[in-house]
Amino acid sequence: MHSPVQRNYAARAAHGARGAGENLERKIKRKEEQMKEKLEQIRAEALRQIASSDALDKLNEIRVNYLGKKGELTAVLKGLKDVAPEERPKVGQLVNETREEIEKVLDASKKKMERTLREAKMKAEVIDVTLPAKKNNVGHRHPNTIALEEVERIFIGMGYEVVEGPEVEKDYYNFEALNIPDGHPAKDEQDTFYITGDILLRTQTSSTQVHEMEKGRIPIRMIAPGRVFRSDEVDATHSPSFHQIEGLVIDRNITFADLKGTLAEFARELFGEKTKVKFRPHHFPFTEPSAEMDVSCFKCGGSGCRFCKGSGWIEILGCGMVHPHVLEMSGINPEEYTGFAFGVGLERIALLKYEIDDMRLLYENDIRFLKQF
Ligand code: DAH
Repeated sequence: MHSPVQRNYAARAAHGARGAGENLERKIKRKEEQMKEKLEQIRAEALRQIASSDALDKLNEIRVNYLGKKGELTAVLKGLKDVAPEERPKVGQLVNETREEIEKVLDASKKKMERTLREAKMKAEVIDVTLPAKKNNVGHRHPNTIALEEVERIFIGMGYEVVEGPEVEKDYYNFEALNIPDGHPAKDEQDTFYITGDILLRTQTSSTQVHEMEKGRIPIRMIAPGRVFRSDEVDATHSPSFHQIEGLVIDRNITFADLKGTLAEFARELFGEKTKVKFRPHHFPFTEPSAEMDVSCFKCGGSGCRFCKGSGWIEILGCGMVHPHVLEMSGINPEEYTGFAFGVGLERIALLKYEIDDMRLLYENDIRFLKQF
């Protein structure tokens, strides 16, 4: 049962509803028209944007803006609740048609754009197979490198270690510790590149002997290849920069016989089984006694030819027993230990072994020359 107040209220409400009923109908009708208009606007604007976009990114952006979850069409669908129920399917279908059309045009546009990009890429990557091919130049090992590897192989085979020392050196290591005092002709300023009064470019790899001895690890059995510098004019047999290989052995009971046996074996391995060696007395400040070693000419076998200038012998290296004073200066007791040392020019070996008659060829790096090795 309604109370009178309630009845009164309900009657008013029913009356009001009738008046508003017509109003609502018109409103709904208008809403429907508005939505159709809106859809047409969306369609036109989307198609216009698609037509004027020139990148795949932009197409994607349009897809998101119009068809995405938060896109314009979804927004329209949300407004469907204000449309009369019997009109909803019609409007809904219109939304779907609009969506389908935009989707179709988007896909077509995307395909077209991808095709254009692919064609441009293929055009840019076109290869003219009739053009001559690029020549691939394969590098060669330098004759110096080949010779050095050969020397290293021989000494490593005899249990030697390969070490390196600095090219910029203190006067002490290059001269003083090797028993070459001030005023010695070997220390002539004309031959040495000085950096300061005390610092220089090493003139001989003998400086590495001192570094090795200072380490205080005996026995020593090492070779030390490296670049050396002397202020020489360039000619067929001289260069301001060339390479030496230093050798040093220190242990108990090392004698000149060890030196001879080692270097004779070295010569045979380097120049061939039949190679003979000859030791001539010489002088080096850091060895006593000192010698120069010649090898029998590997070209004529010792009978004398143009190669060995008729003598049958070729001078190959300097060597000697390490001077007791040199041992002492580097902290080695000469009463307990003895040793031998040798120094050989790397270019000299390369020139001899590969019969090159001008040292300059080794530095010019002309590919036509290097190719031969
Ligand atoms: N350092 C010498 C030079 O440059 C070569 C040399 C000779 C090194 C005798 C040695 C050696 O170790 O014992 O002419």
